[in-house]
Amino acid sequence: MAIAALLFSFNLSATEPTANTGKDMKSIIVYFTHTANTELAAKKLAEVTGSPIVRILPAEPYSAEDVDWVNEQSRCTQEHLNQTLRPAIQPLDVDFSQYDTVFIGFPIWWHEEPAVIRTFLDNTDLRGKELYPFCTSYESPMSEADATLQKGYPDLKWHTGLRLPAGADQIKEWIEK
Ligand SMILES: Cc1cc2nc3c(=O)[nH]c(=O)nc-3n(C[C@H](O)[C@H](O)[C@H](O)COP(=O)(O)O)c2cc1C
Repeated sequence: MAIAALLFSFNLSATEPTANTGKDMKSIIVYFTHTANTELAAKKLAEVTGSPIVRILPAEPYSAEDVDWVNEQSRCTQEHLNQTLRPAIQPLDVDFSQYDTVFIGFPIWWHEEPAVIRTFLDNTDLRGKELYPFCTSYESPMSEADATLQKGYPDLKWHTGLRLPAGADQIKEWIEK
């Protein structure tokens, strides 16, 4: 049902939020980005799906020092080493009950999803929804983050994720599967 709604919305404008009422459930794209690669990917996905896009913003932005993965003391390294850390994020003005499909995008950090994504997942009721993760990365495949998401949130309904950039045909094939 969700996929049918999604495919139906292919012709809608990316910037035009759809009417999310009643049984006519819709999809939404939620993403985190630090250097804008994932933002580009999210916009491409929005072009293909017609879904509205919403950016996850950390309450405290990441500085250049924060994302220095060579430094063991840096914020991102610490958030990787201590998997219980949940950096605060700014509130999202989204009623997720209006959506049955959620695309969740992020850059791969340390072969997995950044900790802010876990903050989002902890704070949002996504039970029963069709979840499609997507990523950008230097070289890491999506499969590593698929594994950590499924392990960390086994009660959620994960679909196999997609590493972007990808063409419109590949994106459609991913969703149709
Ligand atoms: C802290 C940090 C860790 C990263 N770890 C990986 C990694 O394990 N594998 C990889 O292929 N790329 C890694 N990258 C590169 C990013 O995934 C890649 O540049 C991504 O496209 C950035 O997306 P953004 O512009 O949306 O922030 C890392 C980048 C940062 C800042």
